[in-house]
Amino acid sequence: MKPKTTKNIFNAFIGEAKAYFKLLAYAEKAALEGEEQIALLFNAIAEAERVHATRQLNLVKEILVKDTATNLENSFEQEKSISENAYPEFLKEAEEEKEMEAARIFSQARDVEGFHAKLYERAIYKIIKKKVEAYYVCQVCGYVADKKIRKVCPVCGAQKEKFKTINP
Ligand SMILES: [Fe+2]
Ligand SMILES: [Fe+2]
Repeated sequence: MKPKTTKNIFNAFIGEAKAYFKLLAYAEKAALEGEEQIALLFNAIAEAERVHATRQLNLVKEILVKDTATNLENSFEQEKSISENAYPEFLKEAEEEKEMEAARIFSQARDVEGFHAKLYERAIYKIIKKKVEAYYVCQVCGYVADKKIRKVCPVCGAQKEKFKTINP
């Protein structure tokens, strides 16, 4: 793939992915305002933008998606870097500006990304059981557990009912 087109595909992909989430929020708002048809329209177009994003991602798959060992290594590095660099910086600035809700979200995301890195690390070193087992994802903060949560989320304190099971 030539460089300009590659860059444009990446930018288009990011734009479509952002639009997807924004349109879902628009749909939610329209539904709250009782605008059922408009909510449906936003949801339908969000779904279309998801199709675009997936198509564009597929065009650059050879660049982004390597073999699984490399993908695990890359994912580990990414999580480690984001939890050690990006989120601590975002957290610091949110605290400086006394944006406490954002600070809480950044601080939980920093912790959670650290746990994600650990899960990848264990997979890299194959400290993983032979049997394929479910994961449990906190729908509040994104904490991922490989064992059923007994009480509450260790990062955000959400009740165990808030966990979504990712089944084999
Ligand atoms: Fe993560
Ligand atoms: Fe959580």
